[in-house]
Amino acid sequence: MDTIYGKHVHVLDAANFHAHASRYREVLLDIGAGDGRYTLHTARRRPECHAIGLDACADGLRKSSRTAPPNALYLVANALALPKELANIASHVTINFPWGSLLSALLDTDQALAAGLRAVTRPGATLEIRLNMGALAEIGCPPEAARDQVRRTLWNAGFSEMRTCSLGATELRTFPTTWAKRLAYGRDPRGLLLWANRARKHRHEPLTTRYASIESLRGQQGVYYAPKGAA
Ligand SMILES: C[S@@+](CC[C@H](N)C(=O)[O-])C[C@H]1O[C@@H](n2cnc3c(N)ncnc32)[C@H](O)[C@@H]1O
Repeated sequence: MDTIYGKHVHVLDAANFHAHASRYREVLLDIGAGDGRYTLHTARRRPECHAIGLDACADGLRKSSRTAPPNALYLVANALALPKELANIASHVTINFPWGSLLSALLDTDQALAAGLRAVTRPGATLEIRLNMGALAEIGCPPEAARDQVRRTLWNAGFSEMRTCSLGATELRTFPTTWAKRLAYGRDPRGLLLWANRARKHRHEPLTTRYASIESLRGQQGVYYAPKGAA
């Protein structure tokens, strides 16, 4: 798979990747990482966690990858064809403010994305998806429909439970990604957080949705989310 360090893209083979990744008990995979800020934030605050930022576009990742600590890794790949080297690696996945094909795949119950998410996550892994309400409005997708559609994608990916809550300007301002800040200070500072847990055993029950408060979800994601610090 292709890994980026500053201006340079290298091929990282499975053996070298696993030798490095096996030093960490927890692995965060940030899909659609953009400029890689969230990966950097996590890697700096959690030296014991391997933080992997993945995006289809290499350019955005160049700057962060140059200054990243050894527990951060940046990959250039399409989320709809996740590298097979990542199989069963992630204890935690984030998809923050997706757009383009990544957003469409979440909303269209794309089988390739679901299969990829299922393949890269360990049983018990958590997944956080943050959606930009403005981006949903632009494509004519009401928040309730987005919730239902994402829920179906996650069910196909082996996730058993989903919690959801709204994000306002306060939450967006303190969340350490560039798009969270952009949204927070923009005209329509509204987001939607969907949190799900990869079932240890995928039961054939419908995936439930519970509406939760931001405080309760903050508790769930507390290890990765550091509201006081921006990267
Ligand atoms: C609005 S940006 C959000 C970036 C970052 N997560 C943040 O919160 O600042 C959406 C990102 O999704 C990436 N993206 C869109 N479709 C993708 C795909 N199929 N595979 C990988 N990345 C994709 C884009 O390249 C872009 O960097």
